[in-house]
Amino acid sequence: MRHLLDTRTLAREDAMRILDIAEDMADTQSREVKKLPTLRGKTVVNLFFEDSTRTRISFEAAAKRLSADVINFAAKGSSVSKGESLKDTAQTLEAIGADAVVVRHPASGAPRTLATSGWISAGVVNAGDGTHEHPTQGLLDAYTIRKRRFGADSRGRDLGGVRVVIVGDVLHSRVARSNVWLLSTLGAEVTLVTPPTLIPQDVTGWPARVLYDLDAALAEEPHAVMMLRIQLERMHAAFFPSEREYTRRWGLDAARLRRLPDDTIVMHPGPMNRGLEISSDAADSARSTVLEQVTNGVSVRMAALYLLLAGERPEPDKAGAS
Ligand code: CP
Repeated sequence: MRHLLDTRTLAREDAMRILDIAEDMADTQSREVKKLPTLRGKTVVNLFFEDSTRTRISFEAAAKRLSADVINFAAKGSSVSKGESLKDTAQTLEAIGADAVVVRHPASGAPRTLATSGWISAGVVNAGDGTHEHPTQGLLDAYTIRKRRFGADSRGRDLGGVRVVIVGDVLHSRVARSNVWLLSTLGAEVTLVTPPTLIPQDVTGWPARVLYDLDAALAEEPHAVMMLRIQLERMHAAFFPSEREYTRRWGLDAARLRRLPDDTIVMHPGPMNRGLEISSDAADSARSTVLEQVTNGVSVRMAALYLLLAGERPEPDKAGAS
């Protein structure tokens, strides 16, 4: 792959390839010596213009386990505060020797601009851009669902017939977008459950069904329930009546958990608002894959970096992984 920018245009065969290589990477992570020599001599730059815990450390761990050198750049404390442009920042990092740039940015489309502008020749991975996409989160979520459904037989299997319910602030969620596109590409049936004020206007063009009643969606016995963070920082009072009312109608708690089949998993990309969209009972329950998702994220990002920096070049017309 040259870049990994979204899941909307990621071909099924490329998505399956990433998931299957992630399986191989996960096998290496259970060894005593986790490090592989694959990317020795390559440099990965984490270029983060927004805060992150999981994604940044996961990319750092993934690159280091493949023996790449890693440079972490945070916009906070950098010359971005003096007005330096994305182009100048990226070109400075490439001059230092970046082979791949992992970028998180508040502007939707910033990674694609970096990948297609000709400013730099390094491969670009989207680590979350505005409300657009977070493709490696979608991939690690798909990996987690597949692993929980099929265990050791996961390799080569898609998600045909798997029912996934995604609950919460879909309007602001790049995680929801990446999951909707990827999960449907892999054959899953996706249902979005959200307050009417938190659904994007273009949702009619998405490969997902929309419901407003969480209990009705849970009664259909989904295989996975993915809770989204309520992005309070992007909201005002009109989005929902009150936090208490939101939790009552769209929050996942112990009572709702008890009504689900025993093998339904509870997912959350993090960071969680405990007590708002998810109770501590649900977040810490045996069904919760929150920490498993973090562990799987390292294997998935190892696979993505491997394909970017050591794998074969794809056909030029595959835009999502072009
Ligand atoms: N899931 C996720 O993107 O978390 P961070 O914002 O901590 O990276």
